[in-house]
Amino acid sequence: MVGESAADTTAREALLDRAMGPKRKKKSSEKLRRGRRPSEGLAFVARDASGVVVGTVRLWDVRLGEGGPAALLLGPLAVEPGLKSGGIGSALMRHAIAEAARLGHGAILL
Ligand SMILES: CC(C)(COP(=O)(O)OP(=O)(O)OC[C@H]1O[C@@H](n2cnc3c(N)ncnc32)[C@H](O)[C@@H]1OP(=O)(O)O)[C@@H](O)C(=O)NCCC(=O)NCCS
Repeated sequence: MVGESAADTTAREALLDRAMGPKRKKKSSEKLRRGRRPSEGLAFVARDASGVVVGTVRLWDVRLGEGGPAALLLGPLAVEPGLKSGGIGSALMRHAIAEAARLGHGAILL
């Protein structure tokens, strides 16, 4: 698990299309995230042995209601379809939760 870099953007978007299908951008959670940046330090990719991006997870800053407490919104979490059920998704999620806690965040919404 490593922090995502700007160079990973194309690979991440292609992976999301493969894992979630072309209609993924119509989801209401995607509309919430559009045009925004993930929470600082909370975008991660998983790579295979040759460095290819095979998993992605990001967390986004949100507020619970107007002026309410801060929280993180999860998503999308996705793994290369041919590598499903190999533990990559769980490992990405555990890493993201641990880093969010370390950075002082108190809640993640799904
Ligand atoms: C969901 C996903 C990220 C899991 O990644 P993964 O690397 O296969 O996960 P792991 O191997 O760590 O764990 C697999 C377990 O997760 C659970 N799981 C898989 N998909 C799930 C889902 N949509 N909801 C709840 N649990 C799920 C299952 O219990 C599975 O157990 P199994 O191996 O006995 O089938 C991956 O399947 C994926 O990219 N799916 C398409 C995109 C998606 O639906 N993302 C979630 C919404 S944003």
